Amino acid sequence: MTAPGVHPDSGASYQEVPRASAPHVKVHDLALLEFQGPQLQRARAFFTAFGLQTVAGARDTEMFSAEAGAPVAIIYRKAPVASFIGPTFAVRTCAELEQLARATGSPGPVPQDLPGNPPGVLLRDPNGLQVRVAWFADWRALPSCGEAQPLNRGADRPRSNAPLRHPRRPSRVLRLGHMVLGTPRWEATARFYIDNLGLIPSDVQALPDGRPAVAFMRCDRGAEPADHHSFVVARLPVTDIEHAAFEVPDLDEVGMGGAVLQHQGFRRAWGIGRHILGSQIFDYWFGPDGHKFEHFADGDLFDADRPTGYHAMSAAGLAEWAPPLPGAFLRPRLGRREVAQLLRNLFTRSGFGIAELRLMAKAMRSTSLPD
Ligand SMILES: [Fe+2]
Repeated sequence: MTAPGVHPDSGASYQEVPRASAPHVKVHDLALLEFQGPQLQRARAFFTAFGLQTVAGARDTEMFSAEAGAPVAIIYRKAPVASFIGPTFAVRTCAELEQLARATGSPGPVPQDLPGNPPGVLLRDPNGLQVRVAWFADWRALPSCGEAQPLNRGADRPRSNAPLRHPRRPSRVLRLGHMVLGTPRWEATARFYIDNLGLIPSDVQALPDGRPAVAFMRCDRGAEPADHHSFVVARLPVTDIEHAAFEVPDLDEVGMGGAVLQHQGFRRAWGIGRHILGSQIFDYWFGPDGHKFEHFADGDLFDADRPTGYHAMSAAGLAEWAPPLPGAFLRPRLGRREVAQLLRNLFTRSGFGIAELRLMAKAMRSTSLPD
């Protein structure tokens, strides 16, 4: 792990991304994501092939669930133009919602416009995204996946007369794991989620001038280990969800899930590989409206004591092993609205202008690897 120091390619000092000393609340997990767009049927076809279950809902709305977590993980509402509406985070108690409402001057807790109308508080992040924090009476614990199949490795050969046969079916999707939010308002956005929700920066990747480019943030569960990241803020020229990720039990579930998606004509964005920061085995797919969705397995868990790691941003630092990174993976999803936003941001003092674009391009050519 790298303490805040100097960037290996430029000698610039890393800017620290400190934790909040007294966050308004410490969320327990990412609960669900809301989208809108014109492709209801496509959304249904993709998310069921991806391994989610459909949940009956209102007219012109498709809802999907995983095995654990909130009773619904994805809500897709019909609308003429595709966009990400926002995330919902979960807290463990209603008392935390009261605390959050008081601290932010927001009404609540009030029933949220979600299945089961859980009590919650509605916030707006610096990008104008809707951020719900809610308490779910029907939150479901992660199930046991049983004992792992024995592996034949070198001289250790426990599996004999027992051929492996995996059925061709969509992945078993356990839970929503994380999302990445791209934004040109990096500093204000990262502070919003850290100070309001108590998220802890696990690892930060920096541009060559030392400013943060990406912060991988986890939920503060104290001594109980949490996913390396539940929410990531990435410095990008357009405000949008960059991808959302769902946990599956193991490598075979990642691989078989990919085979099913491919067979059904969906397009892989990048994978299969293993990340460096977070260590997950990953596989990314393009879903409805060009948003990306990831199957992942075997990610890192950190408790609240682990300090933040600082690293140079680089393409080489994205994976220990994987196929070459396709250009399409890095390009923002560009509808008409996003193109206008991109042009406005690039040519005004937005936090992601030409200077940042050059720094990001330089960073992505770097061969620096995280420790
Ligand atoms: Fe991811």
